[in-house]
Parts: sequence; C-alpha cells; structure tokens
Amino acid sequence: MNAQNLIDTARELVAGDKGLLAMDESNPTCNKRFAKLGIPQTVEARRAYRELIVTTPNLGECISGAILFDETIRQQKKDGTPFVKVLTDAGIIPGIKVDAGAKDLAGHPGEKITEGLDGLRERLAEYSKMGARFAKWRAVITVGNGIPSPGCIEANAQALARYAALCQEAGLVPIVEPEVLMDGDHTLERCREVTEDVLRTVFNQLYTQRVMLEGMILKPNMVVPGLTCPKQETVDEVADATVRCLLRAVPAAVPAIAFLSGGQPAELASARLNAMNVRFKARLPWALAFSFSRAIQQPALEIWRGEEAHVMAAQKALYHRALCNRAARRGEYSAAMEKTSA
Ligand code: 13P
Repeated sequence: MNAQNLIDTARELVAGDKGLLAMDESNPTCNKRFAKLGIPQTVEARRAYRELIVTTPNLGECISGAILFDETIRQQKKDGTPFVKVLTDAGIIPGIKVDAGAKDLAGHPGEKITEGLDGLRERLAEYSKMGARFAKWRAVITVGNGIPSPGCIEANAQALARYAALCQEAGLVPIVEPEVLMDGDHTLERCREVTEDVLRTVFNQLYTQRVMLEGMILKPNMVVPGLTCPKQETVDEVADATVRCLLRAVPAAVPAIAFLSGGQPAELASARLNAMNVRFKARLPWALAFSFSRAIQQPALEIWRGEEAHVMAAQKALYHRALCNRAARRGEYSAAMEKTSA
C-alpha cells in the first residue's frame, strides 16, 4: 500500500470544491428507475444513459470522480471509446461500486447486511487495472420499531471496515457509506441518535481493521427527519443537527465527508449542503462535499426518458445540478440559481 498515493487521491476527490457523482446504480435499481419513466430496461438503454452522463460538456468543472457499476466500467461510447477513458480525459477520476448489495440479515427481521467480501481482493485488483482509483461500499441501516439492532450495526460496520482495508491494500481510496435510511416517520432526533451510534461503531471497526483514516472518504446520510414524520425541520436546523452529529463521531484525520442524497429532492439536498458550509465551513476539520446519485441525475433522467432528441437538454440539467452542488460546497448556492437554469 502506498499511503501517500491514497492520501493524494482522497484529497484530489474533493479539491476545487468539486464532488462525486454516484452513477453506480445496480442493474435492478437502474431498471426500476427506467421502468417508472417507460424507458426500456436493456443493456443498450443503460449504456446510452451512461454515455449521456459521461459526455456531458464541462462536467469535470464540478465533478471530481464518478462511481461506476461493474457493467458500466466495461462499457464504451457508441464510437468505441471506453467510458473510463472519456472520464479520465474530462479530468474525472473513475471509481467503482464493489459491494454486492444489501440482503436480509438472518435473525433480524426488517434489517439488511451488505454482502460482497468474498473474492473482493481479486475484484479490486481487476478494477484497479481497468483504471479505477477509488471504490464504494454501501451499508443500509433501517430505522423502525426496535431497530436498528446492535447486531445489524456491528455486522455492517465490520464489513465496511474489512472492505476499506482491502481497498487500501489494493491502492484504492475507500468511500465508506453507512446509510441510515429516510424511510419512516421517525423524528430528526431519532435519526441523529442512530446516525451517531452507527458512525461511532463504524470508526471503531475502521480502527480495529487498521484503516488509514487520511486515505478514505466518509459518505454518510444527512441528519434528517423521516420522510413521513409530521415535523420537518428547516434547512438550517438540518444543517446544525448534521454537523453537530458528525463533530461528535468523525475523527479529524478523515479528509472529507461526501454526503449521499438518499432520496431528498435535488434542490433541498443542495440547500442543506450549502447551509452546512455557510454556517460551519471555517470551523470544520474535514471538507463537506457531495456524492449524490439521485440529487444530480434524477432531473436529467426525467428529461431524457430514453429519447436521443432529449440528450442535450438532459445533459444541461445534469450539469446544472453539478454546478449547484459545487456552489453549495462554497456556501454560494441560492434558490435564484434554480431560476437561471434552462
Ligand atoms: P443517492 O444520492 O441517490 O442517495 O445515492 C447515493 C449512493 O451512492 C447510494 O449508494
């Protein structure tokens, strides 16, 4: 393991107020999103969609790294140029999702465990050869009656730490993603409590597995009320609760925190990230960045709908969301930015 390379890559991934684009939906997830919009659920449709994304003009101004799915990292543009080359030429670092998805956790009704450790060392070596310089693994924590359980949190935290150690051994920066889901009617306070507990457990495991914190990026949820909670706090309240929770649980050696969007409306995700940077940026040990999937891609997907004629308009929408989120990192995002979009 070359520690300095890992540190340099982690820093590069959050330099220039840019962020990550998670375009790594698994085939079933991508197909589900396509189905809702009447887009054919085929290899070619997924390839065309990913070509639209990676060829978006000037995307590299706002996006430092793109997380790909196994199918996508092996694909090319229609003219035969590999996506990895298209991204690299655009100044965007290719990354790869390496978990095998969240499965039911035995003995824990309603809870999930992320699989994918078997054979991971070999897969990481292959992805590294293909040009990936960082990786992602997502753990899913559900909030509900009597859950999450300690068994679920510990099992997921240990898997995340074992994945992260294997990544660093292979020279890839691990994106460590423990996602506390927004589904449910739980309060913001409950989300904070669970998120803090999860993050403490994750960092305990990262220490135990000897992961170098300087060479990783944390990808957590924001601290938000459940989607169906009657009380929905303001943008500033969410920003305060999130930063307070992270300050308690995330060591200062971690270079960056890149949030997932988790199904928040795209504009709200930008506004909340912006508020955190406006209110706290100068006082924080880590950069507060983004690693959004839906909050960057969804508007573009809805414009595209599988139609060649809509590609340019979809790319414009994608670039716009990336630009809004770069502004949010700078604390310069405002609702007015949305009005100037096409
Ligand atoms: P969302 O931003 O849509 O939550 O996706 C982030 C991600 O990468 C999920 O693993």
